[in-house]
Amino acid sequence: MKIALGVTGCIAAYKAIEVMRGLQKAGVSVQVILTRSAAEFVTPLTFESLSAQTVITDMFQQGLNRDIHHISVAQSIQLLAVVPATADILGKFAHGIADDFLSTLYLSNPAPVLIAPAMNVEMWRHPAVRANVDILKARGHYFVDPEPGKLACGMEGEGRLASVDVIVARILEVLRGGDSLAGLKVLVTAGPTVEDIDPVRFLSNRSSGKMGYTVAQAALRRGAEVFLVSGPTSLPIPSGAQFIPVRSAAQMKDAVLKLYPEMDIVVKAAAVSDYRPVELSAQKIKKGGAAMSLSLAQTDDILHLLGKQKKRQILVGFAAETERLLDSAHKKLKEKNLDLLVANDVSKGVFGSDSSSVIMLSRSGETVNLGNQAKTAIAGRLLDLALEMKNREDRRQKTE
Ligand code: CTP
Repeated sequence: MKIALGVTGCIAAYKAIEVMRGLQKAGVSVQVILTRSAAEFVTPLTFESLSAQTVITDMFQQGLNRDIHHISVAQSIQLLAVVPATADILGKFAHGIADDFLSTLYLSNPAPVLIAPAMNVEMWRHPAVRANVDILKARGHYFVDPEPGKLACGMEGEGRLASVDVIVARILEVLRGGDSLAGLKVLVTAGPTVEDIDPVRFLSNRSSGKMGYTVAQAALRRGAEVFLVSGPTSLPIPSGAQFIPVRSAAQMKDAVLKLYPEMDIVVKAAAVSDYRPVELSAQKIKKGGAAMSLSLAQTDDILHLLGKQKKRQILVGFAAETERLLDSAHKKLKEKNLDLLVANDVSKGVFGSDSSSVIMLSRSGETVNLGNQAKTAIAGRLLDLALEMKNREDRRQKTE
């Protein structure tokens, strides 16, 4: 197993040495690439002495193979990881600028890409950087997002490189993941549903759709055929997914029930409205007295219906709670006949965030407390568990 480890110029560059060591311990061969500014923070010699391999620092370096080197590196690796990644390299990757070895390798590389950014909090929040991160995430790249804390510049906030252990674990997870879902059909629901009241008003919720879209991207990267049934969101459609846009809970139900019999794994991350207005007014409702009331009818619980009809599918539900998280989660797992439930404490403003604090409960009684993690990491873990369950279920059905 071989990866390329790109190191770019920021104060956290020295931590890439520990990442390289952690990977080597796990039996991964690491080709290190230092950008010019990274070499100002850490010397190539440090990496060379510890890896016993030539470190690439330059597009036109003497002593390297005579072949077109960025192509031969690209063809030989199972992953391109960039630790730490500066705002500069995010911009180059997002916009296809190839003016040094690392950015040129990026364009010639068919393997998955994992990026662990580190920078000042204002830079990380800057709209230009946010837009570049969105582009790269939509391209399906893995991110190990920076952590909040004290930064080298003296400021507090998000921007500090994630811990070495987290980065090494994520790289190993991605390497193991490969195309583990090849041949499987995965249905993901995402986003809010919207229940119209009249032509200008509706009932909805704060779901951004990020969790579901992240699961869909992760499943695509692992080779699954992915069906994404989504309520309205502002997220880019993951490329390669079969995208089914819906608006109301009733439309989501119809789309999901139609696909369900063919599916192997179903992840219901959508925040479905529990109620809808009894009547949709064709005209804008006019102001009446000081108070008004709206008559609501309950929508169907889609997940409950899926649980009842379940045959071969692995069914993963979510539970958004603001209190008594575990009690409600256990209840939902059982009542909806789920294999896995991701319980989410939504009292701390997770909507729209790239991270979340979740506990996963399985039908067989296991509890995995993931704590606060990037949604990409949660999606990876969720799919690992769902696949394990799918394989177990297949074996069980074969022996029956
Ligand atoms: N769900 C669904 N259809 C609904 C409501 C919820 O499929 N009409 C699914 C969601 O997609 C999620 C799970 O059920 O996977 C739990 O949703 P949640 O909103 O946490 O709970 P509810 O079952 O709606 O219960 P409550 O709102 O009372 O907590």
